[in-house]
Amino acid sequence: MIPLNILVLHGPNLNLLGHREPNIYGSTTLEDINSLLFEEALGLQAKVSCLQSNSEGALIDAIHQAKENYQGIVINAGAYTHTSIALADALLAVELPVVEVHLSNIYRRETFRHKSYIAPVAIGQISGFGTESYRLGLQALIHYLRQHSSS
Ligand code: DQA
Repeated sequence: MIPLNILVLHGPNLNLLGHREPNIYGSTTLEDINSLLFEEALGLQAKVSCLQSNSEGALIDAIHQAKENYQGIVINAGAYTHTSIALADALLAVELPVVEVHLSNIYRRETFRHKSYIAPVAIGQISGFGTESYRLGLQALIHYLRQHSSS
């Protein structure tokens, strides 16, 4: 099997998971999510690297650098999902397969969260399953990459 390196990007305020609005985002911390992803990746014979930033520029820099070292990106861009053309442009520029994830179902929430600038540049989106959104997103991306590398 081809070894896969996946970059997982967490956007603004996700460092506060576990404490931040637990009624919406649950009590799992970002560290817990990253551990879950490392374990899931191991089982799928892949590797993940996780990065969280509250800064749009740092996320864009990480996307630019991803081209060299990763085959795909899982991203929860937090509130930048709804605002950042720059993040979407960066994802388009590097031409890596992207899966967008959200803990909450963004379509059941305020209307300003219904718009995603990431969705049109992603293979797909998983939204509303709490921490499982990340696991499902990682599985979906790895499945996609394996399907597309063998054809
Ligand atoms: C979020 C949803 C966004 O609307 C919000 O700004 C976040 C988290 C989610 O994972 O549900 O920060 O991306």
